[in-house]
Amino acid sequence: MTLREIRRKAIGQLEAGGSDSPQLDVDLLLQVALGLSALDIMLEPDREVRDVPAENFQHLLLRRLAREPISQILGEKDFWSLTFKVSRDCLTPRPDSETLIEAALKTLPDRERPVKILDLGTGSGCLLLSLMSELPNSSGVGIDLSDKALACARDNAERLGFLDRCDFILSDWAEELPSSAGFDIILCNPPYIAHGEKPDLSPDVREYEPHMALFAEEEGLLEYKRLADILPNLVTAGAAVFLEIGHKQAADIRGIFTKAGAKNIRIIADLAGRDRCIALNY
Ligand SMILES: C[S@@+](CC[C@H](N)C(=O)[O-])C[C@H]1O[C@@H](n2cnc3c(N)ncnc32)[C@H](O)[C@@H]1O
Repeated sequence: MTLREIRRKAIGQLEAGGSDSPQLDVDLLLQVALGLSALDIMLEPDREVRDVPAENFQHLLLRRLAREPISQILGEKDFWSLTFKVSRDCLTPRPDSETLIEAALKTLPDRERPVKILDLGTGSGCLLLSLMSELPNSSGVGIDLSDKALACARDNAERLGFLDRCDFILSDWAEELPSSAGFDIILCNPPYIAHGEKPDLSPDVREYEPHMALFAEEEGLLEYKRLADILPNLVTAGAAVFLEIGHKQAADIRGIFTKAGAKNIRIIADLAGRDRCIALNY
């Protein structure tokens, strides 16, 4: 079969299977299975594909038809300016979360300053390592309650060359942190989806992403309540905190942090214009 024929058939299968980006998915899988570039695929549609690479492609396509996320099939995902290894053990980084990095950088006019960063619920390490990549003299701590996610973050830190500047700690939020630790910037993307919303999630997320990264009690708000109590003990004077929020949760979460004594609370939208981040000081 030619590339064109394989492509057309596979795109149709993925469309019928419910993928929202069938063409992109097929092209990425073809690149991996056939060892071709995006340009090769575009410029040589009549190229004949041999049996073995075609079988490799069919194998990958079956995984995608079973709704495995493309990032997990490829084993990596771009975030900010870096490429992160991902698996079923850690949440795949989402472009919306880059809102936290942008917001944090805006508060740091001097990027040479040696700031200490804490990332609560680090997952793949994407928030911590992306911010550190912009701040050459920063140091960081990534915390997660999942040892598998933490292994993923440590692996990314090592591969991307940050391991000499950061530590990773297995902990329920800040429980295992030394009490003397004071951070200048705290990032946190906690689980915030209400359990009742589970049936509305796409199977790609519901069946393949770690549930510890997704769901929280009390309509998705419990972890913000816990964090509101903990954060004041972790900051240096003038520190800035950036938390990701669900786009319908801004009012509730503003209320939680106002009650806990946070100052200068701002809600920041993502590129789609939806509330995505709460920034605050103490
Ligand atoms: C929404 S994911 C965020 C992952 C990554 N920071 C990102 O933005 O892609 C939430 C992360 O918090 C971790 N987590 C959930 N509850 C936690 C807790 N009580 N203490 C520490 N980490 C927790 C999960 O294991 C998961 O890795």
